[in-house]
Amino acid sequence: MSAGATTPFVDPASDFSDGLQVLQTYHGSFLQHGRQLLALMEAIMAQGLDEQRALEAGRLSRYYAEITRLHHRDEERIVFPLILNKSFVIDGMIERLALDHEDIEAAWAELYGALQAPEHIMSSEQSLIGARRFERGLREHIEREDLDFFPEIERWLSPDQCAEAGRRMAQLRR
Ligand SMILES: [Fe+2]
Ligand SMILES: [Fe+2]
Repeated sequence: MSAGATTPFVDPASDFSDGLQVLQTYHGSFLQHGRQLLALMEAIMAQGLDEQRALEAGRLSRYYAEITRLHHRDEERIVFPLILNKSFVIDGMIERLALDHEDIEAAWAELYGALQAPEHIMSSEQSLIGARRFERGLREHIEREDLDFFPEIERWLSPDQCAEAGRRMAQLRR
């Protein structure tokens, strides 16, 4: 089955009037999809693959492939440069967050293979371990950004800069 071929891409954000708001919307979406991903993998391990679960594997595969890429691009190309060189603490934080992105993308690359061939998931404890690792890595990264990074965006960026960041995010999607 070609996973994801039938599911259209839907951007979690529909309002780009504030760049920080876009990032927050994506975080909420990631947390929700993380729960769906673990539920799917556990259901396949316990009960095997049926048509609905195969479609769900395709939907989640397409979601993460698109949405993770868009979100990291928004952060790395638009938001990180805006608050770079404000302080050593922020620069260190950004460096760490960018490294997290690489780890998340590496964990995703492994999981992507499993979601593309969901008929093999049931016989593979490795797929479930990989899904848990990916979900936890992304969730902990989001928690770090929510706690440490977003307050710095609010502190350093004016409402106009947040609006401009949102405009640039919308532009990158066209
Ligand atoms: Fe991030
Ligand atoms: Fe983020």
